[in-house]
Amino acid sequence: MGTALITGASSGLGLEIAWELAAEGNDLVLVARNAERLAAIAEQMKQVADIQVEILPSDLSTEAGALAVADRVSSTNRPIGLLVNNAGFGLGQDVVGGDLDRELEGLDTMVRAILITCHAAAAAMKQRGYGGILNVASMSALTAQGTYSAHKAWVRTFTEGLAASLKGTGVTVSALCPGLIYSEFHERSHVDSSQWPSIAFSEPSTIARIAIDGVRHGRVIVTPTVRYKVAAAMLRVAPRSLVRAFAGPGLSGRE
Ligand SMILES: NC(=O)c1ccc[n+]([C@@H]2O[C@H](COP(=O)([O-])OP(=O)(O)OC[C@H]3O[C@@H](n4cnc5c(N)ncnc54)[C@H](OP(=O)(O)O)[C@@H]3O)[C@@H](O)[C@H]2O)c1
Repeated sequence: MGTALITGASSGLGLEIAWELAAEGNDLVLVARNAERLAAIAEQMKQVADIQVEILPSDLSTEAGALAVADRVSSTNRPIGLLVNNAGFGLGQDVVGGDLDRELEGLDTMVRAILITCHAAAAAMKQRGYGGILNVASMSALTAQGTYSAHKAWVRTFTEGLAASLKGTGVTVSALCPGLIYSEFHERSHVDSSQWPSIAFSEPSTIARIAIDGVRHGRVIVTPTVRYKVAAAMLRVAPRSLVRAFAGPGLSGRE
């Protein structure tokens, strides 16, 4: 895959995707806001995997942050073979009565930044005739959990359209739609994750391996694990009134 750029590489799924790619000998560009954390991870990876690791500390909720990543993606110096748009977070609030700045931060990070970086990657990769883009959506894309579901539905639909636009160019585009994953996600969004049984969760390393395998096979939609494949099939055929009733904002389990 050459050099892979991963956003949200400082913890959880993004970190595991980075380790998987490092173990295969790919050079990496790690993006997140926490520069100190990225530097420590990069040092560890260089020692363990004997690869080149750049860090690009950026806040993707800002235009400058998203454009900095887009610039790196467009660069012909050590071209990016795989772009992984993984950075994201739960809003931890209902849009009704919630903080508008928090809503906009979510939109900018999980929608606007993905549009900006994919726009850059699609052009650069199409010109080279190879490359891959992996956008992390969620099972929530098929539910009705408010703004977060809407963002992830955008990621899923946008990815499908981009994949169709780039068909035959040598560039693949995939949307990863996982269910619950053990990570810092729930703690950061003040959601009590103990309300769900442990069987509903997957290890981020498992999801990372499935995601990379999906990219290798050029799959447009990657839904990890059998139980979430079944859930996705049910959500696609269920009447939306039922989805709203059973997988609406109440499902997010905010504290
Ligand atoms: N955990 C789940 O159950 C679950 C399920 C389905 C989908 N997902 C999706 O999986 C992706 C990864 O989440 P995770 O579970 O691994 O959560 P996580 O452990 O909280 O990791 C989130 C990552 O995103 C980065 N990030 C957050 N806001 C950012 C910003 N404004 N700019 C740059 N980086 C930012 C964080 O780093 P910094 O704080 O250092 O910036 C961190 O590296 C997200 O897109 C999430 O929506 C998660």
